[in-house]
Amino acid sequence: MKHQGLGPVIAIANQKGGVGKTTTSINLAASLAALDQRVLLIDLDPQGNSTSGLGVDQNQVTSGTYDVLMGESVLADSIIDTDCERLSLLPASMDLAGAEVELVTEMGRELRMHQAFASYTGQSFDYVFIDCPPALSLLTVNALTASDQVLVTLQTEFYAMEGLTQLMDSIRRIRQALNAELSMEGILLTMVDRRNKLSTLVERDVRAYFGSQVFEEIIPRNVRLSEAPSYGVPVMYHDVRSKGAQAYLAVAKEFMHRRKV
Ligand SMILES: Nc1ncnc2c1ncn2[C@@H]1O[C@H](COP(=O)(O)OP(=O)(O)OP(=O)(O)O)[C@@H](O)[C@H]1O
Ligand SMILES: [Mg+2]
Repeated sequence: MKHQGLGPVIAIANQKGGVGKTTTSINLAASLAALDQRVLLIDLDPQGNSTSGLGVDQNQVTSGTYDVLMGESVLADSIIDTDCERLSLLPASMDLAGAEVELVTEMGRELRMHQAFASYTGQSFDYVFIDCPPALSLLTVNALTASDQVLVTLQTEFYAMEGLTQLMDSIRRIRQALNAELSMEGILLTMVDRRNKLSTLVERDVRAYFGSQVFEEIIPRNVRLSEAPSYGVPVMYHDVRSKGAQAYLAVAKEFMHRRKV
């Protein structure tokens, strides 16, 4: 664990868009909170989908990820409670998109998140998740530099493996230059449709190549998962009996189990 009170920190990343990063951030975080863990979710994506998905209006955010990255607010003061017990959020403020540009000329621009964590004094969390934007951008580099592990969400479709190679290269480079301790938490297969032949083939290939790094539990394609954000709640508060809610609960259990052994 790199940071006192904030540990372990897990970046949920994939530079590919729409592969279930945010859905996993919200629902894995909420499932762990339901399993009695204190969880902080950091919305590092200017789209603010984790923020709105937890029922927080991005327009109303006065202090969020942008302010913390720019050193204008301290992390502890910007964390807010959500309607889910034990689940806290660092919301994405509207100007987060600008942070990328504003930070480019700054010294130590890759270390902003790391520094915010290093000086953190506040309530303790059992797990911290960072929902990354769909790019290997400065924001994602900040997340990977500040994290203990990376959790990759992978949609079982044709180009899945190609994108993964690129992501693994970036992780290797971050390890060399900025964060030697960064390790893989695992690969979570999302939007799996086992009636679809291609989905099944991709799953088989990914498991053959990455072995035990791949979570045994998978997230199936489930309409309840795509509906829940419009209600501003994790899927378990929308329909706890849905396949999506049950899948994320199972992943949360596997997640905790994997960390014990
Ligand atoms: N298992 C699933 N079943 C059905 N729909 C899903 C599932 N997972 C995600 N979705 C939907 O697919 C879309 C993309 O998912 P999500 O926003 O989680 O991906 P993302 O990787 O965070 O995207 P981005 O790269 O834009 O941040 C969303 O509309 C989401 O509701
Ligand atoms: Mg997202």
